[in-house]
Amino acid sequence: MSNFVFAGKDTVELAKKYGTPLYVMSGDMINDKCDEINESFLNKYDNTMAVYASKAFLNLAMVKMVAKKGIGLDVVSGGELYTAHKAGINLENVMFHGNNKTASEIAMGIDLGVGRFVVDNRWEMYLINELAQEKGKKVKILFRITPGVKSDTHDYISTGQKDSKFGIPIVEDVIVDVVDEAMKLSNIKLMGLHFHVGSQLHDNSSHLRALDATFGILDKLYDKFTFVPKELNVGGGFGIYYNKEDDVKPLSYFVDPIMEKISGYFEKNGLDRAKVIIEPGRWIAGEAGITLYKLTGKKEIPGIHRYISVDGGLPDNPRPALYGAEYEAVVANKYGQEAAETITIAGKCCETGDILIKNIQLPITENGDYLAVMSTGAYNYSMASHYNRIPKAAVLMITEGREDIIVERETYEDVISQDRVPSWLE
Ligand code: LLP
Repeated sequence: MSNFVFAGKDTVELAKKYGTPLYVMSGDMINDKCDEINESFLNKYDNTMAVYASKAFLNLAMVKMVAKKGIGLDVVSGGELYTAHKAGINLENVMFHGNNKTASEIAMGIDLGVGRFVVDNRWEMYLINELAQEKGKKVKILFRITPGVKSDTHDYISTGQKDSKFGIPIVEDVIVDVVDEAMKLSNIKLMGLHFHVGSQLHDNSSHLRALDATFGILDKLYDKFTFVPKELNVGGGFGIYYNKEDDVKPLSYFVDPIMEKISGYFEKNGLDRAKVIIEPGRWIAGEAGITLYKLTGKKEIPGIHRYISVDGGLPDNPRPALYGAEYEAVVANKYGQEAAETITIAGKCCETGDILIKNIQLPITENGDYLAVMSTGAYNYSMASHYNRIPKAAVLMITEGREDIIVERETYEDVISQDRVPSWLE
């Protein structure tokens, strides 16, 4: 029996030193993922670009890490854009996504000079054009299209199906008209199309089917306007390991057939291939993170259930409650010890659904034990909340043996910092 080691560090020591709950990110694993993107995609195929879907895990350090590896950023809000700006990266490599960009967010994007706006709908197109005109600028856009592809993933993270709040439906009348209008506007330049079919996918067929649908529309756009896209952004969605159900594939499993298909289409039509852009989020950050907790209680409902509770849960990881996500975990200070009980791990929120893991096999747990939950690097910290006024956990990054806090643990003062008491209550 020994302590669980992650990123070369004894996790029990980390928990004691930095407190719990604690997100621990392996900077080395993030760097490896970025290297794989370079090897399997950027260096393998010319005229390509990768942007990190920053919603997965974002802070100043993360922006700088991916930028160092030649990877751009996908942002979907003023806050994400501001983070990128403050990190000092070249915003030409930023794609501004989002299905409900506000006028002030768009204005901020134009002022800061983001490389591309990915336009969700007609209103937004006009708004961007109008704001760009006021500022005397011309901005480059892609249209987000919904290719009518239903992916094999949780409904809440499937985005490419026909009935979606995202993007412009690939219905000939709709898309052809929008492109026609776009080409008549003088302060936007249509560079191409974007789709994102869904998240946590282990099968490349959704991307490939989406390409077929996209080519159908491109044929029409060529016939009508001799429009040839300069860029095609095929989104992210590449799946990672959470548990034994996940049949994880290398990045090349996704990008090779995508590239073959796209190249084939352009070759067949005697056209120069568009720049191909991918947008992995979870794939870069997800497996690079774990969360450490302290066990804070245990109970047995005889003949029914055993629970252990941890000092975090829903506020640092809402995914089990939101999507029924299933995680693996180990007792960090009893690593390698044989499992001896089936137990459910309960979070600390006043919420029945705040269960981190149901019926996991663990060694017998005692007061003072620590739990490490795996694959929490994506959509955990970034989706954290203050429910029950629980301060947000710190993020520690381990890179080449260095320990750096990249996000400080919040204090109770932080939690009340935006509260204001009206004078009549003083
Ligand atoms: N590009 C666009 C336009 C997206 O909407 C997304 C994710 C991505 C790229 C990156 O997808 P990824 O490579 O990370 O799968 N909160 C959910 C995931 C929502 C994903 C939303 N869009 C979760 O925790 O599973």
